[in-house]
Amino acid sequence: MTEKSLAAGSLGGTSAHAQQRATRGLWSSRWVFFLAATGSAVGLGNIWKFPYITGQNGGGAFVLVYLACILLIGIPLLMAEVMIGRRGRQNPDGAVARLAREAGASTRWRVAGWLGGLTGFLILSFYLVVAGWALAYVPATFSGGFAGVSGEASGELFGALLASPLRLVVCATLVLAATMLIVGLGVRGGLERSLRFLMPGLFVLMLVLVVYAAIEGEFAQALQFLFVPDFSELTAKSVLIALGHAFFTLSLGCGAMMVYGSYLPEGTSIAKTSVLVALADTAVALLAGMAIFPLVFGNALEPGAGPGLIFVTLPIAFGQMPLGQVVGGLFFVMLVIAALTSAISLSEPSIAWLTERFGMSRLKAVLVSGGLLWLLSLGSVFSFNLWADYQLFGKTFFDTLDYLTTNWLMPLGGLGTVLFTGWVLKEATVREAIGLQRDGLFRAWWLLLRFGTPLGIVLVFLNLAGMI
Ligand code: PFF
Repeated sequence: MTEKSLAAGSLGGTSAHAQQRATRGLWSSRWVFFLAATGSAVGLGNIWKFPYITGQNGGGAFVLVYLACILLIGIPLLMAEVMIGRRGRQNPDGAVARLAREAGASTRWRVAGWLGGLTGFLILSFYLVVAGWALAYVPATFSGGFAGVSGEASGELFGALLASPLRLVVCATLVLAATMLIVGLGVRGGLERSLRFLMPGLFVLMLVLVVYAAIEGEFAQALQFLFVPDFSELTAKSVLIALGHAFFTLSLGCGAMMVYGSYLPEGTSIAKTSVLVALADTAVALLAGMAIFPLVFGNALEPGAGPGLIFVTLPIAFGQMPLGQVVGGLFFVMLVIAALTSAISLSEPSIAWLTERFGMSRLKAVLVSGGLLWLLSLGSVFSFNLWADYQLFGKTFFDTLDYLTTNWLMPLGGLGTVLFTGWVLKEATVREAIGLQRDGLFRAWWLLLRFGTPLGIVLVFLNLAGMI
């Protein structure tokens, strides 16, 4: 789409719109918003976490519950976050405050906004470190470093990476620098240009890997594991893990979807786009499963191996298969790309907050938040080596941060957002802002948002508190 067609076409109509474009920037098309939101959703959560928690929780039945959580809790909340962003046209903190004022409610609700930004910032500090592992595996795999490795040797190689603060810092710093460079170039310049080729590239690589796994691995066994539910494998805890992962994978409760929504042109259907983002996100997770499990079963590896599934187990498979060097190298390139597009969205809420709340230039905001992130990421890096023995309640700094953000802050931010949308904003305002044409659809979403979604989140909290 050209600038001209933008100005004249679907996006450029109103003067408010023109003002927004001039001062703050908008996605240049709904396709770019879709790419950006999908890029945020698809990340380490889909490719690294989804397969290993599926492996640990018995396969098919867990996948089914996870899909139900995406549908009944994830999509309604995703729509609410995008709507608040677009209506508020600011960073999450400012957007919630603006809508609260509009509804005549207390601006204290802005806590739901800034808590999200803070959560995103904290997640990013350790997300960078895991993305750094993937980056370290790119040259290691391409250069044939895993050729013929045994399980033990692969575990030792991963252990050696974790034991080296220098390698971890270098890799995390490279990921941080790439993220900040893209974010620093701005919404139009940086994010869009990179997303246009990053996301389609990711899909192509993923398909190549699935085709390879289908030919070379135990594809039928993998499909059976992923898609034939065995409910005897399902525990109450698995259900709640599936629910928590629905939050993480759709980037909810973090301000990311809100800030991306704030760049969304009027007239784009929030419902349709949200459903498409959730579909694309789920498709990538399932593709990741279909790429990884045939290799796991084909090489008699353990599906429930845990967080090391990719970094310890897959190199064994890549080391054995013909062309494994190339397939494996491509796999880790793909993982870095997926992590990068998520990292960009994790940093954008705090960058937008610094520029809009404190009037900083974008460059200064990037330098300030990049510097803070780098310092914080050292805590995660040292958790695996220098500070491994310093533990709080039996957890390292990295584990504490992961536990706190994923299990408490994200659902808390999400709960704040649904309560704010469903119980504070006026129904008429929401109806107008969400732009759902069909009354039946609006009613269904509104009911889910007011009752179903908060109930689901509260169940997660009760589980964490050990009450169920
Ligand atoms: N959704 C990303 C993933 O699945 O890896 C992680 C993430 C990105 C979480 C952005 C939260 C967020 F705001």
